[in-house]
Amino acid sequence: MEDIFKTLPQHTCSWSKDRMTLFKYQEFWNLQELIEGAILAQQTFKAQPSDVLLCSCPKTGTTWLKALSFAIITRQKFNEFTSPLLTTMPHDCVPFLEKDLEKIKENHKNSCFPLVATHLPYTLLPESVITENCKIVYVYRNVKDVVVSNYNFMIELVKLRVEDAPFEEFFDEFYQGVSCYGPYWDHILTYWKASKERGPSRILFLKYEDMKRDTTSEVKKLAEFIGYPFSVEEEKTGVIENIVKMCSFDNLSNLEVNKNGKHRSDDPTISIENRLYFRKAEDGDWKNYFTDEMKDKIDKLMDQKLIETDLVLK
Ligand code: A3P
Repeated sequence: MEDIFKTLPQHTCSWSKDRMTLFKYQEFWNLQELIEGAILAQQTFKAQPSDVLLCSCPKTGTTWLKALSFAIITRQKFNEFTSPLLTTMPHDCVPFLEKDLEKIKENHKNSCFPLVATHLPYTLLPESVITENCKIVYVYRNVKDVVVSNYNFMIELVKLRVEDAPFEEFFDEFYQGVSCYGPYWDHILTYWKASKERGPSRILFLKYEDMKRDTTSEVKKLAEFIGYPFSVEEEKTGVIENIVKMCSFDNLSNLEVNKNGKHRSDDPTISIENRLYFRKAEDGDWKNYFTDEMKDKIDKLMDQKLIETDLVLK
């Protein structure tokens, strides 16, 4: 690992007052520990054909996607009164490829739990995910809210106050592509290109804003895609609505575990307060942060980057 890191471009983020350094590994920026996790996963992870990968860039709706997928696949065993989601934060319910290889191995051995989450771009996924033809769900979100969500998360992570971490500096670096798992648009493009090659039966794109607008339809789409479709009986008896309600921002963010608990609490060096994953969940919070100039700049960039796609990130 040491030898690899010696050769990688690195960048210390100015907005972080030098508290965060990112490395560029195979075209994408990231923290050292997550690149190490990615390399280990690339070298050792053996996907099973039944695995379903929940993929995303940070701050695009990962927590919500994990909660919904977990609730969908465990609904025969648990309901909205007994679900582990009521006492365990969604990130602790679905193992993360870059960090939880042992847990995923255990799941492969002991159960038929198929969910594996990752923030890796498609081009960095372990080879076996591709050779086993695993299904992939990819969630994405409009770029401006992603910048703002990242900003608020990152400054808490490095323990800075808003006054001490100028948003303009964060925006400039994000715009240059320097963010965790960034450039964000290139991350999306890796999955978009793969979906064109592999077809919609293997890669499902979900958009955060669509999920907010019509959660029930998107949840039905998700359940069908991952192979756990709702029966007519379930539709009639309100099973979908119960899942939607249980996984809603209002419900999850008000649970004791998500207000006061910690993610990865067994390791104080990397544990993160759960509340950081539940901020506002609003569309358009960017309007409280962006100048007109920033808006024009990033909109123009999205036009350029996504010209060949049908994706709308503005
Ligand atoms: P905001 O920072 O805009 O509030 P991720 O899960 O990928 O880290 O993304 C975090 C974003 O999703 C945050 O956005 C967070 O508030 C929002 N979020 C978390 N849980 C959610 C839920 N159940 N429904 C909708 N949005 C949710």
